[in-house]
Amino acid sequence: MTDRQVVVITGASAGIGRASAQLFGARGAQVALLARGRAGLDGAAKDVENAGGTALPIPTDVADYEQVHAAARQVEDTFGPIDVWVNVAFTSVFAPFHEITPGEFRRVTEVSYLGFVYGTMVALARMRPRDRGAIVQVGSALGQRSIPLQSAYCGAKHAINGFTESLRTELMHEGSNVHVTVVQMPAVNTPQFSWVLSRLPRHPQPVPPIYQPEVAARGVVFAADHPQRKQYWVGASTVGTLLGQKIAPALLDRYLAKTGYQSQQTGEKVKPDRLHNLWEPLDSQDGHDHGAHGTFNDRAHSRAGQLWFSHHARLLVTATLTATGAAAWLRSGHRRQDRSTDQRA
Ligand SMILES: NC(=O)c1ccc[n+]([C@@H]2O[C@H](COP(=O)([O-])OP(=O)(O)OC[C@H]3O[C@@H](n4cnc5c(N)ncnc54)[C@H](OP(=O)(O)O)[C@@H]3O)[C@@H](O)[C@H]2O)c1
Repeated sequence: MTDRQVVVITGASAGIGRASAQLFGARGAQVALLARGRAGLDGAAKDVENAGGTALPIPTDVADYEQVHAAARQVEDTFGPIDVWVNVAFTSVFAPFHEITPGEFRRVTEVSYLGFVYGTMVALARMRPRDRGAIVQVGSALGQRSIPLQSAYCGAKHAINGFTESLRTELMHEGSNVHVTVVQMPAVNTPQFSWVLSRLPRHPQPVPPIYQPEVAARGVVFAADHPQRKQYWVGASTVGTLLGQKIAPALLDRYLAKTGYQSQQTGEKVKPDRLHNLWEPLDSQDGHDHGAHGTFNDRAHSRAGQLWFSHHARLLVTATLTATGAAAWLRSGHRRQDRSTDQRA
């Protein structure tokens, strides 16, 4: 089924994109790797080839539509029709909103939101006439529940859900066999926390529980194999966050206002001028391949009940909403009973 599958992954030089590329490679896929950094792309290509796949690294800035379009053409000229397109590439600024400049906010939006839009556009332009293909958007729990210090990122992640939902209904309207799905990720141990532009006094960290990028990659590959579903939720923390947001968003506001600054930083002080990847890849500044993993290996889980949650997400929501509704009905029943008891008394 998956032999010689043609897969394109943006943001494939590091983190979740890189782990996903390796996993597709292990199935013998032909994997096109899109990102900017040369060292990371070369490292990712080696990972894919060592795993048993065929790699095609293409230096690309996803904020530039023409580059994304040219990359898609190069992939099909080399490998043939694209079966799966995975949008992963992103950047962010860790800072309170009032400390982010308009140019920085625009750049995050252009990479992290429009990069997904452009990837989806060029993939769709090729898949739609063939009436087959899968597009996977790597989303985040923060695309449905924003947190402090990540306003530009959370805005982009929300926007991805918004435009994807619209596109999905258009494809359904057409009866298309092209499918688009979103995989909502938990906190993952990737290089982002060491290279994103940060104005925080201490080293940024993913909010625990933290998962290894291979856990996220398994979610991506599963979603690519079953793209008919609207969303997948990876990790119990994603399930908890998304259900919490549905049930008690105002409570979460207060909780995050209180804990969100502390929980996103380690105790380690960082220099305010640390190198970052907002405008240029870090590879081109330090010459290193940063790999798939970040600096939190000792705290990261290698497993999650991800597939279970993926399969049962809808059931869980229904059960929770039913339970919430039943509790409200019971409470109102008690109030009715109390009132009639009062009246009788
Ligand atoms: N890690 C988490 O805790 C977490 C949680 C939820 C969701 N996610 C989602 O997972 C995805 C990947 O996150 P990650 O943590 O793996 O990130 P990461 O470690 O920072 O890797 C980001 C990737 O994007 C590429 N990239 C950055 N800017 C680019 C640009 N302008 N054009 C092309 N490629 C660019 C980077 O390569 P170059 O710099 O070489 O271009 C790198 O390959 C994101 O969509 C994120 O929203 C992550």
